[in-house]
Formats: sequence, C-alpha cells, structure tokens
Amino acid sequence: MKINEIPYRTIWQSLDGGAVEIIDQTRLPHEFVALRLSTLRDAEDAIRSMQVRGAPLIGVTAAYGVALSMRHHASDAALQASCDLLLRARPTAVNLRWAVERMRTFLSLLPAGARAEAAWQEAARIAEQDVQINEAIGRHGLQIIRGIHQRKNDTVNILTHCNAGWLATVDWGTALAPIYAAFEAGIPLHVWVDETRPRNQGASLTAWELAQHGVPHTVIVDNAGGHLMQHGMVDMAIVGCDRVTATGDVCNKIGTYLKALAAFDNGVPFYVAMPTPTLDWTLQDGVREIPIEERSGDEVTYMEGLCDDGQVRRIRLTPAGSSAANYGFDVTPARLVTGLITERGLVAANAAAIRAMLHQDFI
Ligand code: MRU
Repeated sequence: MKINEIPYRTIWQSLDGGAVEIIDQTRLPHEFVALRLSTLRDAEDAIRSMQVRGAPLIGVTAAYGVALSMRHHASDAALQASCDLLLRARPTAVNLRWAVERMRTFLSLLPAGARAEAAWQEAARIAEQDVQINEAIGRHGLQIIRGIHQRKNDTVNILTHCNAGWLATVDWGTALAPIYAAFEAGIPLHVWVDETRPRNQGASLTAWELAQHGVPHTVIVDNAGGHLMQHGMVDMAIVGCDRVTATGDVCNKIGTYLKALAAFDNGVPFYVAMPTPTLDWTLQDGVREIPIEERSGDEVTYMEGLCDDGQVRRIRLTPAGSSAANYGFDVTPARLVTGLITERGLVAANAAAIRAMLHQDFI
C-alpha cells in the first residue's frame, strides 16, 4: 500500500539489519511516525500498547520479537521465556499464539547456535505469507463485490467495523483487501466506516488508509449501521476477525455482533474476511470459550484528538466518579455470518465447510 505515493508495509527489517521498524499506530491519523523495535521487550510493548494491532500484524510482530530475542539469548530456556512473554501480551487474537508456536516449534528443533539467523528468516516467511494470504482474500472477495455490482448496476455500499485494513496486517488487509481489489478493478464503491469506540480504529485508521488510497468513504458513529441498513443504504458488510472457532463463530472487535444482528434482520449479507491462521481448531463455542480482552477503563472515559491549535490532547468525557467497563471484543455466532472469505475461497461458517476447506489448495 502507499502512503503519500510511497509504497509501505506495516513492518519491515531495518536497513542495518539490527531491528524491525513499524508504523506507530497510536500516532495515526495525525502523525506518521516509524518506530524501531530492537529487543523482545520492544516488540512485546508495541503489541501491548497497540502501536501495532490487528490480529495478523500482532502475530508477525511477535514472530519478529522471538527473532530479536534469539540474537541475545538462544538457549532452550530463553526461547521458552520469550515465547511465554509474548503470549501474555494480548489474549484474544489467536494469530499471536499461532505465530509464536510456529516459531517455538521451528526453533526448538535447531541447535542454539543456528537459531538467531533461522528465526529471522522464519519471521520474514510469516510476514511474506501474510501478504500472500491477504492478496488472495482480496481476489475472492472481489468476486462477491462484483456480483453485487452486476445485480445493482450502481455504487456498492459496504460497511466495515474497526480496522481490518492493511494497517492490521503486513499489507492489503483482510476485510479491506476485497475493497481495494474492487476499487482497482474500477467497480464504483463507497465504504461506511464505523468509528469503533473506544479506540476509534475505524475513525482514525480505516478512514486514514482509505483516504490514502483514494477510496470513497464516510465515517459513521457506531450506532448508525442499523439505521443505514433499514434504509437500504448498505449492500454488504465485511469485517475482519481475531479468532474463529472450528464451528464458524467469529470473534472480532466489540460491536461486531450488533452489526451482524442488524444485518441479519435487514437481509444484508454479512461477510467475515478470515485468514486461516485466525482459525482456532481447538474451540467449538465462541461465546463460552474465546477469552475476551478487557482493557483499561481510561480508554472509555478519555478520548484523544487533534485540537484547533494543532496539538494532540486527551480529554475526559465522563464524570470523575463514573467507572467504565472496556470489553475489547465480542463473538458473532456462526448463524449470523453469510460466509468466510478465506485465502482458499469463500467458505460457509459451519464445521463441515471449514473442515472441507483444509483439503482445498491455497489459490
Ligand atoms: O484491538 P485491535 O485493534 O487489535 O482489534 C482489531 C480487530 O478487531 C480487527 O478487526 C481484527 O484484528 C481483524 S484484523 C485484519
């Protein structure tokens, strides 16, 4: 993807080879700042503080975190400790566990002296694979958008929640990949961007990256989606996901479930863009089994933004004595999901279809 016409990925190896660099997403959309991660602690802190966020990018950053730690200590004990530290950084997105376990399994088979270089290469392979997966999701999702456009013969209105764009991955994004592919194919489209309280990943990140790419979009408050659907102003919804069970229940940013309910009630197709590393084969019941991250109430009671004097400031929204609850994610039951757009094609959100997908080629 491009920022001011310059091609970027969200994470890249530094020119001196001693670190990785990321885009500090806590500074967007008002400032574009690259940040250097040189140690395991830097990587863990970037994930925990959400300087990097989005399920696939969290996984890739964790893989590089393991690689950075192997440069200093490559013993079995150091490998276990690094992996365990990273696994605790954020609980919900299963890509973190997927990437860390892949690094742990791969490296534990190697002698300690070979681990530093091998870890770096494996992390780079995970990053590259993420780009290929998302590009394929874009191609498959494009067919769905094209179908809607052919039937409607007018601008396709797509609603999305949170940020599942290229900022949430290494490149392309998951939910936004079909949108970018359709835009590039010349299909007229417009995106309704849920602001996504409390951290506003929609208003600050999705709006920013769509604007960079020139995709027509409108930011709406989180409560507006149902109204738009009732008035025929949404042709489809596409969201990302942080963990999907073997039965097709989808965990994604808080508020996704309410959009799925509104979509179901209004006959609006509700798609989930799902890279297969986001599938958790060990779980059957998303509502009961998926750990939901709870974050600081300060994210609800305070808000940050650009003031008219050009300074970014934090303001308090609520009375000083009011407490706040901050659940980061919710679960949308499979029955509300029209389909999972995966790198292997469109898959129904049920156990049999998901199992069958395993035997399909990555196309
Ligand atoms: O808390 P975040 O910003 O990491 O949550 C991100 C989301 O919920 C995304 O929709 C999800 O990770 C899909 S990313 C391709």
